[in-house]
Amino acid sequence: MKGVILAGGLATSLRPLTLVTNKHLLPVYNKPMIYYPLEAMTRAGIKDVLLTSSIDHSGDFETLLKSGEEFDLQLFYAIQDNPKGGISEAILLAEDFSKGDKLLVLLGDNIFNADLKTAREMFEKKTKGAMVFGVRMPTESKQYGVIEMDDNGKVLSIEEKPENPKSDIAQTGIYMYDETVFGKIKNLSPSERGELEVTDLNNIYVKEGSATCELIDWWIDAGTSHDELLRANNLVAEKVRAGEL
Ligand code: G1P
Repeated sequence: MKGVILAGGLATSLRPLTLVTNKHLLPVYNKPMIYYPLEAMTRAGIKDVLLTSSIDHSGDFETLLKSGEEFDLQLFYAIQDNPKGGISEAILLAEDFSKGDKLLVLLGDNIFNADLKTAREMFEKKTKGAMVFGVRMPTESKQYGVIEMDDNGKVLSIEEKPENPKSDIAQTGIYMYDETVFGKIKNLSPSERGELEVTDLNNIYVKEGSATCELIDWWIDAGTSHDELLRANNLVAEKVRAGEL
């Protein structure tokens, strides 16, 4: 299985912090944000990771992360020409890189300490499908994709930022896909916000009946606002001091 970390976008909601740098290079407690998904790849036992970013900051990622040796990974770099293309468009950049292998996709601003190794091994044994990862958020789930699943972990629906959420399970930025993912992305149309949405992609798997969901304990989407970035810094500091991260 190969890894993809998405670190593009304009991050206008974090301006002026992001006027001259990419949000994934901003600090979260004692490390640049991008370190957290990279370390999650290492924990999951992934060796080859493609990092997608936009042309204006790709050189900064290469200067910082180099070959990936420090993380015990081999890093590859790709450019997303349209920074507003969306998550699914960025995943498409991994088509040649994947060489038919399954993919673990992580959003570059997502921080969590779950070990994805067992889930990866389980997913590698499956012949087809997608696996999404959710977190229970009793009051805030509707700010995210919301996952409805049955008792066996089969996903029944995913709705993007719904008014009336069907569950308290927020969709995180952790996804596993089989090799049919690229064909599926090519059939997507841009959403109202002009992006190829990850939720639309995941719902193709849901319709096929091949999407499952795993729950993780905690997760933070550090790049959405100044408040979330501050919360991420405080939470990570707490977890590091407690030896949990
Ligand atoms: C995206 C997805 C959403 C998911 C979130 C996780 O939202 O569309 O379903 O819950 O990432 O970070 P966006 O940040 O693009 O609004």
